[in-house]
Amino acid sequence: MSWWWYSGADGAARKPLNQGNGPLNYQSVALVVGITGIVGNSLAEILPRPDTPGGPWKVYGVARRPRPQWNANHHVEYIQCDISNAEETESKLSGLKDVTHLFYVTWGSGSSEAENCEINSKMFKILLNCILPNAPKLQHICLQTGKKHYMGSFDVFMVAPHDPPYTEDLPRLDAPNFYYNLEDILFETVAKKDGLTWSVHRPGVIFGFSPYSMMNFICTLCVYASICKHEGAVLRFPGIKEAWTSYFEASDADLIAEQEIWAAVDPNAKNEAFNCSNGDVFKWKNLWKVLAEKFGVECGEFEEGERLKFVELMKDKGSVWDEIVKQNNLVPTKLEGVGDWWLADHTLGIEYPLDTMNKSKEHGFLGFRNSKSSFVHWIEKLKASKIVP
Ligand SMILES: NC(=O)c1ccc[n+]([C@@H]2O[C@H](COP(=O)([O-])OP(=O)(O)OC[C@H]3O[C@@H](n4cnc5c(N)ncnc54)[C@H](OP(=O)(O)O)[C@@H]3O)[C@@H](O)[C@H]2O)c1
Repeated sequence: MSWWWYSGADGAARKPLNQGNGPLNYQSVALVVGITGIVGNSLAEILPRPDTPGGPWKVYGVARRPRPQWNANHHVEYIQCDISNAEETESKLSGLKDVTHLFYVTWGSGSSEAENCEINSKMFKILLNCILPNAPKLQHICLQTGKKHYMGSFDVFMVAPHDPPYTEDLPRLDAPNFYYNLEDILFETVAKKDGLTWSVHRPGVIFGFSPYSMMNFICTLCVYASICKHEGAVLRFPGIKEAWTSYFEASDADLIAEQEIWAAVDPNAKNEAFNCSNGDVFKWKNLWKVLAEKFGVECGEFEEGERLKFVELMKDKGSVWDEIVKQNNLVPTKLEGVGDWWLADHTLGIEYPLDTMNKSKEHGFLGFRNSKSSFVHWIEKLKASKIVP
């Protein structure tokens, strides 16, 4: 990763204020809510680096579960806290008086979009009600939502979506969507404090690392491929023909983190929503071969006839995964924790709509990723971290 595209708001490359042995004189203090999530993990890696714009950064990271071993080397003050609990949030986060930038990269999942709206509004409000009065230096809030802003929630997926390619100025769809609730809460909040700015980030399917993510498509595919390998099966393609042959795009987790950091520190990015995709397209019929090669399995083709579903193919494979974890001495995980089969069925069940990165580029963010390299990078990271064999 390099910041070649970024020279700082004042045109000068930013350097740490203190490179000696003494305590760092932090320029910015981040609170990352969802630090072990798919983008939280990238923020945890990138923010503390000495050449990150706006730095040197002190980083607080919040999640509910105890700190996992794969997060332990990140220079982050880890805080275990459930932000859906107001009392716990007050007791654990009200002391963070020095926070200057909030990165909100979390969400809660309900059984319907109405429930999602309720759960996520509650979480965001509790967090903001705690941070705003206690962190007087708070300057900027990054809110991560996603492409479902244009496509509709999983409930109404593709019922009356906009015509792609999606641009940030498209009107909201006339259906419940927790992203809209979060945006409205964000706008009400920043209006209460002079000088407080915001940015909204709308990635599509994210290519990233976290085994704690509720939606990790690459980890899901790797687990599927490992099970095929273990059973000597062909890597069949559980998706529709359009997903096999049409253009698809992805959002690299590091790229999203870079865009969020850019928006947090660059005046050209303030108070705007931005799409965040890699800036290229690919076809699954090509990446499927890469996946097969990485796991040493025979690559399948698209199969005509009744649609295959991950949910069906993987429904009895819990004990197979346990066996793979044991045989390969992997970090202990359960199949339901690392395989998001419903997500994979959704993702490969549509002709995926594209967005455009023009607005980001016009505002000065020129970051991009080669999606094939990104795919390989995250597979290798999952293997190196012993999440998959
Ligand atoms: N993943 C994707 O492919 C994708 C694509 C497009 C858009 N998005 C959107 O991006 C946004 C962020 O999602 P994500 O996928 O990046 O998240 P994620 O990978 O599922 O990570 C969620 C993080 O939040 C923590 N967390 C969850 N509930 C919490 C709570 N009540 N209190 C404190 N921490 C909590 C989780 O750790 P614990 O479980 O340990 O608390 C984890 O660190 C969502 O709006 C999502 O819809 C995601």
